[in-house]
Amino acid sequence: MREAAQSSEATQLSRRGTDRRPAVGAPATFGQLLRARRQQLGLSLAQLASRVHFDRGHVSKVETDKRSPSVNFAEACDRVLNVGDTFTTIATALEAAARQQQGWVHPAQLLATKHNFVGRRRFLNRLDKVLRADEQSLGVPIAVINGPPGVGKTALAVQSAHRAVNDGHFADGQLFVDLQGPGSGTAAAPFDVLEDLLRALGVPTEHIPADLEQRAATFRSVLHGREVLVVLDNAADAQQILPLLPGSPGCAVVVTSRSRLPGLISLVGAVTLTLPELSRPEAALLIRSIIGDVSADADPAAVAVLAERCGHLPLALVLAGEHVVSHRHHGAGTLATDLIPEQARLDLAAGDVVLRHAFDASYITLDESTARMFRLLGLLPSHAINAAAAAATAGVGQDEASLLLRNLASAHLIRQHDECHYQLPDLLRAYATGLAQHLDSESERTKALRRAADFQGKSAFVGSKQHAYEPELPFPQPSADAGTTRRAPRPAASTTA
Ligand SMILES: Nc1ncnc2c1ncn2[C@@H]1O[C@H](COP(=O)(O)OP(=O)(O)OP(=O)(O)O)[C@@H](O)[C@H]1O
Ligand SMILES: [Mg+2]
Repeated sequence: MREAAQSSEATQLSRRGTDRRPAVGAPATFGQLLRARRQQLGLSLAQLASRVHFDRGHVSKVETDKRSPSVNFAEACDRVLNVGDTFTTIATALEAAARQQQGWVHPAQLLATKHNFVGRRRFLNRLDKVLRADEQSLGVPIAVINGPPGVGKTALAVQSAHRAVNDGHFADGQLFVDLQGPGSGTAAAPFDVLEDLLRALGVPTEHIPADLEQRAATFRSVLHGREVLVVLDNAADAQQILPLLPGSPGCAVVVTSRSRLPGLISLVGAVTLTLPELSRPEAALLIRSIIGDVSADADPAAVAVLAERCGHLPLALVLAGEHVVSHRHHGAGTLATDLIPEQARLDLAAGDVVLRHAFDASYITLDESTARMFRLLGLLPSHAINAAAAAATAGVGQDEASLLLRNLASAHLIRQHDECHYQLPDLLRAYATGLAQHLDSESERTKALRRAADFQGKSAFVGSKQHAYEPELPFPQPSADAGTTRRAPRPAASTTA
């Protein structure tokens, strides 16, 4: 009886009512009831927000009926305001009614979160701020996570999306698309992606327009007035993304890409986060989470060395951890020793995911001049590089060298420290060295090294091994001939893990 009465009350409630205070005995909206109960208990908005663990902006929007309450939120209100299951019942009915009335499908396409997700607190906090709608009253918040291959862009996007959903945001659904770029040769066409998205939103095939512009407009129309999070994973370039953006506030977008996506920031005001490798403790923790405490505690120092040899890169760490798990008598120490030759690190693999292939997918997107510069930089004895040294090594002008270094930085195949200084992280340097040994003739390599040596002799070569921003590595460096002569395989498809 009680349930029936509440449902009947719920069906009379307007989701978008404007009256702030319900008249006595009159049907009230969820928001009006919530505010009345809060005030009855003498709680401020901030106090209620803190007790239900939602942010203040969210509670305020629900109270003013600008945002529909999620069932999660309603359950928390019931608990904190001590009103049985009143709010939960109303929120459940509202959700069902809204779905039925509008044929809303409520997509929930997010990948599962990683049970062993580590670190990234600063980035998660930043993403929280960007995605919470109350910060962005106009326009659609867009966050772009970029960084090198395998650094954890997708994992971070998914983790952040689940956090927002758990906090009651994006209650109308979440869309997730793998855009399959770059380097796979099969980057998804926005035209096809929109068809999948519209289908996922319940648009019957016969109503999906045959024209890209119209598809994009239909997508924006269907999302209008909704609170939907769109995750566009592994984007190739800005052009691929633009037709896939919602147009109205309430929605938000997270893009991941190996590219810095030049153009997107100026076109749509995206907030960019560049993801670095994990810190030392986080990297060791990730290995530990895979191999287990017993195995890690048997030789914690070896775990730390293994993490260093993986360059603290999540993909390499996961592959190393899985290697240890699947080779029962091959502990972290043995694998760390096997990985002293830098080229061996690139062969870390699990199933069809190979570290080297992840780098291939970025490398093959480079134009020939940039690709040549990358390979030759791998021959330098130093990790630290500036335009003058790069120009000398490649035998090109300094302006051209600057441009090529910027191209490499944009593809995250080199790390940029400031306007003039770059660094080639160990794994990428080993990868570049292997490519040079295979693709560039011995005489070309010798000439490049001679030009680099001449330059070093003539000027202050920034690449001294002890350069201020270059950490001393705790393991022996490989000899010049440590690389294999095996050709870096050309991947048939992107090798994201
Ligand atoms: N913070 C993290 N905690 C635990 N595991 C992580 C973390 N970041 C990444 N990983 C794991 O590392 C691997 C690589 O991460 P992910 O696929 O997210 O990288 P990516 O940057 O998206 O790679 P790509 O450039 O190929 O798209 C995955 O197995 C992922 O689960
Ligand atoms: Mg990814």
